[in-house]
Amino acid sequence: MIKQAIIPLAGLGTRLLPLTSVFAKELLPINGKPGIEYILEECIDAGIKEVIFIISKKKIMIKNYFYNDKFYKSIINKKKDPRVIKEYKKILKFKKMIKFVYQDKPLGTGDAVLKTRKFIKDKFFLMLLPDDLIIKKNCSKSMIKIHNQYNSSVMASMNVNKRTVSRWGIYKLGNRLNKKDYLIKDVIEKPSIKNAPSNKAVIGRYILPRDIFQKLSKQKPGKGGEIHITDAIQSLISDNKKFIAHNFSGRYLDCGSMRGYIKSTVEISKL
Ligand code: UTP
Repeated sequence: MIKQAIIPLAGLGTRLLPLTSVFAKELLPINGKPGIEYILEECIDAGIKEVIFIISKKKIMIKNYFYNDKFYKSIINKKKDPRVIKEYKKILKFKKMIKFVYQDKPLGTGDAVLKTRKFIKDKFFLMLLPDDLIIKKNCSKSMIKIHNQYNSSVMASMNVNKRTVSRWGIYKLGNRLNKKDYLIKDVIEKPSIKNAPSNKAVIGRYILPRDIFQKLSKQKPGKGGEIHITDAIQSLISDNKKFIAHNFSGRYLDCGSMRGYIKSTVEISKL
């Protein structure tokens, strides 16, 4: 069973500058609710019991969002506002399941994942990238089902425009398992159009094996000088570890750029 999830939040968010020079993009409201709450709700609905946030000192406002008890208590004492009471209860529910770990320098997603090594108890865990919202169908839940069926690592997958492959992790298809799931042969981080093995991209939901930590602890920086999770995954695939690409049926929304963020808020407000 997959009971733990990790969420890397320690990146710089340069695509949303100047906002992110002082603000954590994961707290930006999407139809009135911080983006990170959609991710937490997806986790809870998928049966996750513990979530590990990887943050940095610069992102401390994310922790403060969940640890503002004194403030809530004083407001509730003074006003007895049912709406505030309800919101505080929700925050408390989230707080109970979140642990915080720190990545001091943004050396890459792989380095962020490595910071959770001590806390992962089971053979597999879920990772969600908070910029990637998937609405209409719980992608994590479908992936956990696939994991349970094949006892394998799983990554969310989507076809992208061939011209944009250099923005994604792109993989080479292996055998088809069923209508939505394929084995992955190789995965490359941000390839050029020329080197891309397909137009099939990995989206920000992963079920990873604990073995990944051993790979990450030895991994050298890759594209752009960062330690990428994709490179550690490729290294496991080279060792014949099974990774499945799950073509999810929900709708993908990219909240990591201003254009995407605005589009996401409009889409979610229509639900
Ligand atoms: P991105 O590579 O998309 O970077 O990270 P970013 O910092 O969020 O945004 P841009 O590209 O500069 O605009 C994917 C996820 O991994 C986290 C980020 O917070 C994001 O959720 N991350 C990235 C880390 O936690 N640590 C890192 O060193 C890098």
